[in-house]
Amino acid sequence: MVKLIGVNKINTSVFISGRGTNLKNLIKFSKKKNSPIKINIVISNNKKAYGLRYAKKNGIKFKIIDFSKKREINNLLNVLNFNNIRLICLAGFLKILSKEFIKSFKGKIINIHPSLLPKYKGLNTHYRVLENNEKFTGCSVHFVNEKLDDGKIILQKKIKIFKKDNVKSLKMRVLKEEYKLYPKSIIKIFNNY
Ligand code: GAR
Repeated sequence: MVKLIGVNKINTSVFISGRGTNLKNLIKFSKKKNSPIKINIVISNNKKAYGLRYAKKNGIKFKIIDFSKKREINNLLNVLNFNNIRLICLAGFLKILSKEFIKSFKGKIINIHPSLLPKYKGLNTHYRVLENNEKFTGCSVHFVNEKLDDGKIILQKKIKIFKKDNVKSLKMRVLKEEYKLYPKSIIKIFNNY
């Protein structure tokens, strides 16, 4: 793991693919005095991502990247280095980053996932959790490695599943926890150094 030294605010990039409510929440968090991060640039693989509105609204630069094109990824690496980005937060980012990319930012990429990892990696998490009659679910923030929704866990939050829960209600209840867990995890990373 690379040391993230907490002088001033850490230049951070948030990667999104869609709705972006975690991005919205991280922007709010970044503006707090006790927040160790400053969000300099938002990256999306999807030019129609709703979440880009939150970047625009808050005057944060954003860039659309086609992650299937090596040239675009190289250009992205240059942009991130030029902006001295020290932390990348994946927030509903649905592309798998290449080994090379992860190597370039080793120990500096974190992700949030709506399950109690290592259980239920991948998509349709809440549906699968309910199908399996789980009693508990939750969310996890973890360091990113080359595998999907894998890597050292930073923090997890567990919640009870109610009999009346469906995919929609569970998604909303877990999201609410995600909004608390992501900032807490960022604070934890910086407190550890
Ligand atoms: C969140 O629930 C996040 O945990 C999940 O996508 C949603 C994005 O919502 N991420 C993953 O499933 C990653 N494997 P948002 O765009 O409103 O933040």
